[in-house]
Amino acid sequence: MADKVKFGIIGTGAIAAMHAEALHNAHNAELVAVFDQVGERAQQFAEKYNVRAVSSFEDFLADKEIQAVTVATPTGIHNKVAVPAALAGKHLLCEKPLDVTTEKVDEIIAACDKTGVLMMSVFQSRFVKNVELIKQAVDAGRFGKIVLVSCQCKWFRTQEYYDSASWRGTWALDGGGALMNQSIHTIDLLQYLNGDVDEVMAATATLSHTGIEVEDNAVAILKYKNGALGTIEGSTSCQPGFPRRVEISGSLGSVVLEDNKLVRWQFVNEEPGDEEIRKSGGVGEVISGGGAGDPMAISSNGHRIQIEALAEAILSGRKKIDLDGREGRRAVALICSIYKSAKLGAPVKVC
Ligand SMILES: NC(=O)c1ccc[n+]([C@@H]2O[C@H](COP(=O)([O-])OP(=O)(O)OC[C@H]3O[C@@H](n4cnc5c(N)ncnc54)[C@H](O)[C@@H]3O)[C@@H](O)[C@H]2O)c1
Repeated sequence: MADKVKFGIIGTGAIAAMHAEALHNAHNAELVAVFDQVGERAQQFAEKYNVRAVSSFEDFLADKEIQAVTVATPTGIHNKVAVPAALAGKHLLCEKPLDVTTEKVDEIIAACDKTGVLMMSVFQSRFVKNVELIKQAVDAGRFGKIVLVSCQCKWFRTQEYYDSASWRGTWALDGGGALMNQSIHTIDLLQYLNGDVDEVMAATATLSHTGIEVEDNAVAILKYKNGALGTIEGSTSCQPGFPRRVEISGSLGSVVLEDNKLVRWQFVNEEPGDEEIRKSGGVGEVISGGGAGDPMAISSNGHRIQIEALAEAILSGRKKIDLDGREGRRAVALICSIYKSAKLGAPVKVC
């Protein structure tokens, strides 16, 4: 059996460079071909990474060498390329958000189910070691009764960022603004750590950018299915861009993650290692992080870890994978419900 899964990239824009770097560094995967609807862009990308540029999508899908693809097109185009790719038997690593509506996400999931290909949703923050530490503490019941689970994502994006591609800041292709594009990584962590949100009440506003349809500021009140409450603050207007924060509090402990560092780690029932975590800020490895002021100020390590996990599952013939399409859907469902609530001015059940 081959020891490396051969990948293609669909959409050779900004994040595709991160995919190429991650594939280069992955021990069990390699990039062999790329496709972009702008042929010249694919050609330049292919030359840079010394791989093939395929000139038509049909040829790309029919290419037997390509076993798996990464989807790196604008968000509202994910479904359009991921569904045919899944139906052509390609395994998928699909960028966040999976698409702009739950209906479009469900079509991708259905296509994967139909052909049995694996799909992993990109949410590299889940693979931050300190997030794993929090998850272990939650699963071990160390927080007691969890009462408040909140996040702040007070980031900054320039007007030039929104002007840099016509799809940015549009409902049809970006699916939303500060929440759907930027805060989604952090919002995903809330539900990953504390389970699904049941109901939301929200307000959104476009305050500091022009020519965009979507929000650059949003606040939401959350009621989780397990009874906990929480808030989300998401923004792309806050100079110079603050590190994101996730806060979890319970009857027996509280933790605060700032960027990827643990700045609070306090439990009533102290365990060996807690003091060390408090002193060091947790496990030092930075695999994601940044992005608060610059979308490309992120490491490709998170993508590499996800690619290696997907490739490992493909090579060993597994039928299921963590962080699959259904997992990726949860953040899209929550954010769409937040937008609905803001529009209606009323609470909305998440579905
Ligand atoms: N995981 C992360 O941290 C992260 C960071 C940035 C962006 N993203 C996500 O990556 C996706 C792409 O964002 P970007 O900033 O790279 O966008 P981009 O505009 O820089 O690149 C998109 C590319 O897709 C191409 N494209 C458009 N339609 C296509 C089609 N039908 N077939 C093939 N190619 C097509 C465009 O020509 C362009 O080259 C978005 O979903 C975004 O949310 C994720």
